[in-house]
Amino acid sequence: MASAFLRLTVAAVNVRLFFSGFAEGSSNNKYLEIYNAGTESANLGDWAFPTVSNGPTTPGVHENWNNFTAGAVLEPGKVYVIAHGSADQKILDVTNQTYTYLSNGDDGVKLAYGTEADHVYLHAVGDFQADPGTGWDICGEAAGTVDHTLVRKTSVTAGNPDWDASRGTTADNCEWVVYPKDEWKYVGVHQGESVTTPTEAVLNCSTASPVSISKVQGNGSTSPMVGEVVVLKGVVTADLQGTYGGFFMQEIDGGDNDSSTSDGIYVSDASVVVSQGD
Ligand SMILES: *[C@@H]1O[C@H](CO)[C@@H](O)[C@H](O)[C@H]1NC(C)=O
Ligand SMILES: *[C@@H]1O[C@H](CO)[C@@H](O)[C@H](O)[C@H]1NC(C)=O
Ligand SMILES: *[C@@H]1O[C@H](CO)[C@@H](O)[C@H](O)[C@H]1NC(C)=O
Ligand SMILES: *[C@@H]1O[C@H](CO)[C@@H](O)[C@H](O)[C@H]1NC(C)=O
Ligand SMILES: *[C@@H]1O[C@H](CO)[C@@H](O)[C@H](O)[C@H]1NC(C)=O
Repeated sequence: MASAFLRLTVAAVNVRLFFSGFAEGSSNNKYLEIYNAGTESANLGDWAFPTVSNGPTTPGVHENWNNFTAGAVLEPGKVYVIAHGSADQKILDVTNQTYTYLSNGDDGVKLAYGTEADHVYLHAVGDFQADPGTGWDICGEAAGTVDHTLVRKTSVTAGNPDWDASRGTTADNCEWVVYPKDEWKYVGVHQGESVTTPTEAVLNCSTASPVSISKVQGNGSTSPMVGEVVVLKGVVTADLQGTYGGFFMQEIDGGDNDSSTSDGIYVSDASVVVSQGD
């Protein structure tokens, strides 16, 4: 029931970066997206994205230590996109740094905190153990790291250096959503920010029928209503528009009394100013 609120509490601890997106598409259409799920700005100089090309020279050890652009800072709730310099314009429009040797699907990349001499790995796509062949299976998709766009499930709010746990074996037990090749709809935003174009929908609160928040949340790891435009009715429980660009709201009537669905939700919107209690 409290998953939305738990996310807030945990996020309040410190800077937390992870790969929120990874794409391996046609020709040079590749990107890597990093999200800051913490509450503090991250100086990307403290981080790096080391890689191996095909199989590692030494199992477990990176081959290339890749720095972020000097001086780059990633604010909470924002993403940083690394793409091939001749990627699709839709990717380049949101790209912060270009890098030529992004994965062909069988090249591991990790998110490291620290220096090349002294670091910890906090997230990974692939591993540094061995060449997987064509690519790594992910979410039950054979060689899914090739010719697909991967988006981290928004229910997962921290990095996971354990690639096998992160990629899982089924769509349900993995931490990602696997989209078809050359899907660029998700690059440049993460964590509940709308990827559809809600401005097309004209909503009238007098006539619209609200959907219960628990129905939007569902009882699984992703909403059963992803991509739909809905009207919700509830009370604002926390206003984070100034810090995160959104707010939390909760059912007024006590919810559905189902402990597997949340009766609260985070609304990523700062365009309509709200206050706690509205
Ligand atoms: C990465 O940054 C560190 C620290 O500034 C620097 O010593 C190192 O030479 C850089 N590595 C590369 C490959 O640019
Ligand atoms: C990344 O690029 C986007 C799009 O140009 C820009 O809005 C954002 O501020 C950049 N972020 C960083 C950390 O440079
Ligand atoms: C919303 O619907 C009500 C009732 O039909 C109507 O009176 C009102 O003009 C509508 N508002 C907008 C902004 O369309
Ligand atoms: C989850 O929700 C679906 C759809 O409402 C329902 O059919 C299913 O029984 C629920 N599962 C659990 C474990 O509550
Ligand atoms: C909520 O569910 C619990 C456990 O199933 C039950 O004991 C309780 O009566 C329910 N409350 C309401 C208001 O339905």
